[in-house]
Amino acid sequence: MRTGWSEDNRNAVKLARDFESAGVQMLTVHGRTREQGYKGHAEYDTIAAVKAAVRVPVVANGDIRSPEKARDVLAATGADAVMIGRAAQGRPWIFREISHFLDTGTYLAPPLVVEVRRLLLDHLVEHYALYGEFSGVRTARKHIGWYVRALPDGEAFRGRMNTIEDCAEQLRAVGDYFDGLADRMDRMPEHQAAEELSGEEEAACAVD
Ligand SMILES: Cc1cc2nc3c(=O)[nH]c(=O)nc-3n(C[C@H](O)[C@H](O)[C@H](O)COP(=O)(O)O)c2cc1C
Repeated sequence: MRTGWSEDNRNAVKLARDFESAGVQMLTVHGRTREQGYKGHAEYDTIAAVKAAVRVPVVANGDIRSPEKARDVLAATGADAVMIGRAAQGRPWIFREISHFLDTGTYLAPPLVVEVRRLLLDHLVEHYALYGEFSGVRTARKHIGWYVRALPDGEAFRGRMNTIEDCAEQLRAVGDYFDGLADRMDRMPEHQAAEELSGEEEAACAVD
């Protein structure tokens, strides 16, 4: 759930108590109101208040994009876990990076380019199986875009992706792009955690 309907009606604590009484086993709280959509920043005080008000596990969510942020949100809220949404798009290894940081206080090296190549090709094959070839090749474009957005020539590659309408050709293009990248670097570049999403990214995420 979110923190409430609007700034004037932040009712998450009351709802959390009611949910617990009704038998809910775990709560995940996103630190924005319904009215906010994805605008502004997530706040964590309300999540801390929910955590203090119930005995069931509470999961904190919203704008967690780095291991440090995960650590800080856990500390600020007392939550039992964090949930990651948009930061995992095109970067599904973020979970192991956060786990490693929370366990050891040190940073895991970025994944090998060849590992990400394999991961993305497997992701695409599963994506086509789920959506079928026609929709699959089209809806896969945004995922490919997320994987390559911060990579060398990623924008140009993303543009080219939009002209491909065939799964086999899409797989081949992605494989070739990552082969080229592997010639230039062993590991993926260090990630720069962007705190703000672009308007385009916000629109792509605007679901509820
Ligand atoms: C593409 C997409 C699909 C989502 N689908 C759901 C959903 O089905 N159910 C849900 O409770 N939240 C859904 N969410 C919201 C996320 O679970 C999460 O609360 C939100 O993205 C904020 O977390 P973040 O800042 O880590 O992205 C979705 C978010 C995105 C971007």
